[in-house]
Amino acid sequence: MTDDPNIASTMITNDPWFGSYAQRAETMRASEIRALFAVANRPEVVSLAGGMPFLGRMPFDQLADELSQMLKSQGEQAWQYGSAQGDPHLREDVLPIMALESITDAQPDDVVIVNGSQSGLDLITRIMCNPGDVVLAEAPNYVGALGVFQSFQVDVVNVMMDADGLIPQAFEEAIIAQRKLGKCVKMLYTVPNFHNPAGVTMSLERRPQVLEIARKYHVLILEDNPYGLLGFDGQTYPALRSMDAENVVYLSSFSKIIAPGMRVAWMVAPPGIRQKLVLANESAILCPSNMSQMTISTYLDNFDWQAQIRDYRGMYRERRDAMDSALRECLPSCSWNKPEGGFYIWLKIPDGLNAKEMLPRAITAKVAYVSGTAFYNDGQGKDHMRLSFCYPTPERITEGVHRLAGVIDRELETVKLFGSPEHEGRHNKDGQ
Ligand SMILES: Cc1ncc(COP(=O)(O)O)c(C=O)c1O
Repeated sequence: MTDDPNIASTMITNDPWFGSYAQRAETMRASEIRALFAVANRPEVVSLAGGMPFLGRMPFDQLADELSQMLKSQGEQAWQYGSAQGDPHLREDVLPIMALESITDAQPDDVVIVNGSQSGLDLITRIMCNPGDVVLAEAPNYVGALGVFQSFQVDVVNVMMDADGLIPQAFEEAIIAQRKLGKCVKMLYTVPNFHNPAGVTMSLERRPQVLEIARKYHVLILEDNPYGLLGFDGQTYPALRSMDAENVVYLSSFSKIIAPGMRVAWMVAPPGIRQKLVLANESAILCPSNMSQMTISTYLDNFDWQAQIRDYRGMYRERRDAMDSALRECLPSCSWNKPEGGFYIWLKIPDGLNAKEMLPRAITAKVAYVSGTAFYNDGQGKDHMRLSFCYPTPERITEGVHRLAGVIDRELETVKLFGSPEHEGRHNKDGQ
């Protein structure tokens, strides 16, 4: 038996297969976010936890008509198996989207369609990493990527970031230090734009520096870019892939710029890696769903998707502003960055408080967040929480932050009276 709370909470008792699982299954953990879902989704709780895009402004009525047409004229293809590399029509459709972030040299043949970025992360790790290999990654780090790396028994080594994103010098030092230890450094995993959870963007100055280091040490860059088109002022940044086609695997997704339900994302990779990705896609799923890909193409071909993204930017900016002003009004004891795009504020809570231990009290006060500990693989992060402003309305966000402020204030009172629970050893074993 384990006393890891994430495992213990989901462990089937008397499992007849206990002891038969592969080692990689033993390293799998329920994400703290998934564990929260059931309670956080109750209507009375203001959830600042999940990263669900708000879809209320999608033109579903008109889309239903277009999809019905598509099924009438191309039903046989939509319901059929397709190519392991992805539908050629959709591989063509993604080119103008990438051009918005300066990737102008990619051809449809360079593109591989995957079942969401999450699957792309799995495939690239599968083909690049052996157990014990090192992936360098910004810390804090996207929790879904941590889960993938863990399941392939990869060592994730944290690289410091600041308000300008990943620190190039820290990247280089980490490579050198790991090589000294005899470790094989395979990739840098980076989310350069409107980072999840940190909300920061890699500066223009740092991008070529990071590429230079990657080339110097022959370390592949995995550029994960689901939020790049969601800059609130319409600003975009040149993708790392636009500056280097040889050393970067680019990953982007329709999940945040259109909708996640179709599970369609895409990768662009240099030829050798691309070929392996197609084989890995085939062995994992045979082929991405034609129905999903054709649904996305139908949307892209018949609607003004750029106008839809502009609309999303305005909507998310309003929500970011609502969260920022509510925080300024009622949580002056905390600090945070004001993100210029994306979905998240990374909130530093006052010293002595523990975001993970405080969560049950927050849920009781009907507000949910994700503890910063979810975004590290080494127990750090209890002094932070991730607040998402993507899904609730501005009014609900304001209400949620007020509730959170009540919880934090009460917690601070307790710490003042009795000292920090950390130091008193008052641990909530379940951490939930
Ligand atoms: C940085 C990052 N990468 C990948 C994903 C997964 O996206 P998808 O829905 O395309 O699998 C997310 C989702 O939140 C994300 O934030």
